Amino acid sequence: MADEHHQEGRKSPPAWETLTFSLTETDFMYQSCGEAESEPVWDGGKMVPFSDITVSPAAAFMSYGIGIFEGLKAQRVAGDRILLFRPDGNAQRFRKSAERLLMEPFPADQFVGAVRQVVRSNLRFVPPAQYGSFYVRPLEHAVEPKLGLGSCTRFLVTIFGSPVGNYFRGGAQQGVRLKVLEQGRTAPGGTGAAKTMGNYAGAIYVANRWKKEGFDDVLYLDSRHVKYLTETSGSNAFVRLRTGALVTPPLDDQILPGITRDSTIRIARDLLGIDVQERALSIDEVIAEGVEMFCTGTAWTLLSVREIVYRDRKIVLKAQDARQEILEILRSIQLGERDDPFGWIVEV
Ligand code: COI
Repeated sequence: MADEHHQEGRKSPPAWETLTFSLTETDFMYQSCGEAESEPVWDGGKMVPFSDITVSPAAAFMSYGIGIFEGLKAQRVAGDRILLFRPDGNAQRFRKSAERLLMEPFPADQFVGAVRQVVRSNLRFVPPAQYGSFYVRPLEHAVEPKLGLGSCTRFLVTIFGSPVGNYFRGGAQQGVRLKVLEQGRTAPGGTGAAKTMGNYAGAIYVANRWKKEGFDDVLYLDSRHVKYLTETSGSNAFVRLRTGALVTPPLDDQILPGITRDSTIRIARDLLGIDVQERALSIDEVIAEGVEMFCTGTAWTLLSVREIVYRDRKIVLKAQDARQEILEILRSIQLGERDDPFGWIVEV
């Protein structure tokens, strides 16, 4: 069947200026099989054409959501070099997420090597810097056919990528409107610190409900006290207070240890001398003391929050200075335009 994305049997990159955060199928993906009872657990992995994958309908992840994912970006920069940002951070988090779902953790060096291969074998899909980046999506699933709920022994790691542009379109890209929800994103003691399929699956319904009322996304309070800020559907939150302090919720069972979150903290603290506080931040304190708010994530980067609505109260946050200063430094490190004092960049 004719397919507009295929030319002479090859897929074509999209027009760069039309990039959004959406999937373009590329040429190749990576796959590795893991068997808990083998030594080593993981095979050497291989690059294969990007294609559908075949699993048993009884594969454990199909019923029970025993699956995790990652997201990281490769950036084409001056001199046609391609740089990855902190792939070792994603590799370590991928291992921790796997452990939380009782899956075999994938070796970190194999992860970074595979990500590089995925970028290298899809070079023509890596956009020029001014248009966007190449988003790499690693996955691990429990694939063994299994009916009962219990630990699994067979796993599949798949890594594919896609050229992407901004996450939000139009005005939202300059600042989002968030509905503050009196509910948690994940349960106390649950999977909130891991990047599991289920955390995101459950969030779609909730965000959709509020998108219909003109919000771009939601901001969850914590599920123990229903009082402290946690995350949006897919990003960490920062608030700058009147005092100048930049506050973000501390890592616990309801907060994903974001790579962009950590990079923001280190740039703000070590390079800009900002008083960064990782501590519980109540919605009441945000209302009384907050002057600026932004969210961080690989897909979202650093995105301003221009307004939050809590109960029937609208809180407008006009300032954007801290976010701008931090983002400028982050971008110039990612583009190889300034020193990389933290050793974050890995050349592909
Ligand atoms: C990312 O920021 O890379 C994520 O995985 C979040 C997702 C909702 C796009």
